Amino acid sequence: GNIHYYEFVLKESNFTRLCSTKSILTVNGSFPGPVIRVHKGDTVFVNVHNHGYYGATIHWHGVKQPRNPWSDGQEFITQCPIEPGTNFTYEVTFTTEEGTLWWHAHSEWTRATVHGAIVVLPAAGTVYPFPKPDEEEVIVLACWYKRDLRQMVEQALETGEDTPRSDAYTFNGQPGDLCPCSNETTYRMLVDYGKAYLLRIVNAGMNADFFFSIANHTITLVGLDAAYVKPVTNTYLVISPGQTMDVLVTANQTLGHYYMAARQYSNTKPDILYFDHANATAILQYRGNYTPPSSPFFPSSTLPSYKDFIAVANFTTRFRSLASLEHPTNVPKNATTRMFIVVSMGEFLGTNSSCNGINGNGSKLAASMNNISWVNPPIDVLMAYYRNISGIYEADFPNDPPSSYNYTGQDLPINTALPMRGTKVKVLEYNETVEIVFQGTDVLDDSEAHPMHLHGHSFYVIGTGIGNFDKETDPKGYNLVDPPLVNTVEVPQEGWATIRFIANNPGVWFMHCHYDRHLSWGMDFVFIVKNGDTSAASMRHPPAYMPPCTAPAADQSL
Ligand code: C2O
Ligand code: CU
Repeated sequence: GNIHYYEFVLKESNFTRLCSTKSILTVNGSFPGPVIRVHKGDTVFVNVHNHGYYGATIHWHGVKQPRNPWSDGQEFITQCPIEPGTNFTYEVTFTTEEGTLWWHAHSEWTRATVHGAIVVLPAAGTVYPFPKPDEEEVIVLACWYKRDLRQMVEQALETGEDTPRSDAYTFNGQPGDLCPCSNETTYRMLVDYGKAYLLRIVNAGMNADFFFSIANHTITLVGLDAAYVKPVTNTYLVISPGQTMDVLVTANQTLGHYYMAARQYSNTKPDILYFDHANATAILQYRGNYTPPSSPFFPSSTLPSYKDFIAVANFTTRFRSLASLEHPTNVPKNATTRMFIVVSMGEFLGTNSSCNGINGNGSKLAASMNNISWVNPPIDVLMAYYRNISGIYEADFPNDPPSSYNYTGQDLPINTALPMRGTKVKVLEYNETVEIVFQGTDVLDDSEAHPMHLHGHSFYVIGTGIGNFDKETDPKGYNLVDPPLVNTVEVPQEGWATIRFIANNPGVWFMHCHYDRHLSWGMDFVFIVKNGDTSAASMRHPPAYMPPCTAPAADQSL
């Protein structure tokens, strides 16, 4: 493969959205940030210079970084933050991924504005497993906050209240002309009649799952998380935070202007108004000589309503890997480690009745996995593991929850799942086959979905369902033939999802919910994958320079 070099300068820049101007942290002054474009097999060195005010890291979402967790970029898991005035060079190696991925800051909520797409083209001499599109377009969906996000999040975590909601969703940085002061800047994709387009769509939203559709046009999903899938043709798609999708669209409609729209679907029950139900729009605009309509066509018949969970399931249950000669599927037929992980919302109960917590008694919102609410250590887990430094983490993350209950029963009280704070990791032998059943809950009547994401590996989603997982009957429905190979799976609201993967990447790898509110509340843990017998099956040694762990760790007194 080829080698590419990128310079990423983290710096504050002024942006005007929704009628007001503010300074945001960017890479090279752009929002969304620059696209990294490579071929499968290439290596990229990204030198990140921090000219901002706070420490930060960059993560290469979905890039497995074989044997090289040192460049994975999650603060306090694989490195300490790159402090202002310093730099760090990441080595990003593309081995098995092909399609669309993305990069983002992995420090607090910095990723809201520090993110961009990664395009991985087929290796030289190979082709797409579908007819070559005429043109390609990157579409990054994200959100915009009018006020200072860092300040709002710090305050929310301190008081224990819910985190701030965004003021608009964006298409390549623009809210679109249904939002105030956004008319002039609506993102436009120009197309020629008759051509086929490959859209590379990234959901960089902080907490929002989206429906996406284009008025009058059908779309065909051909790739998911940089692995190809059997084509799924539909009038809309559903994309969770962390997911990336490759989609084919043919410009075969009457010359005109058509809205592309993204609408959040809300998992909350009851509808707690955390979410704004605004639509972000962009315009698919045909080139040519015609009188444009006074307003573009809106996909009113194909964009599902924000509570249409049937529409969600109708799309997300159709993902299948290619399972072809060129793109084989190798699902582990069995598992050497089995985990049943209850992913739950919760609260840390307060003791001081004079504080203003959620219940007026100093309690704070929390989230957990098997009742453990993750706490970042003061130095990264990777360095502690590599140098055998004790007292940084405990190796006893449980395979099962401490107690079982009717997880998806209605309105479960908090005492069904009182979380404990901890820095607990799960240690795996090299090449173990791992099966995880994620079980959602209805604790505090807060039965949200959870887009679970794993660093360092892709995994097969062999089953999903609604309600409590039944270990007798549900495994009978597992797909061991052509399940999708992904890095993020959405555990459905009040439901479960089963994944399998081979722990063949020695290192330290984060697993977490990709809603940042749940991530900050502790819905995270870490896998340590031990070295194999040979050096080719062992973690690399650290580069000569790693950012030092001098700064105090983030405040963990949530
Ligand atoms: Cu987008 Cu920890 O990842
Ligand atoms: Cu979650």
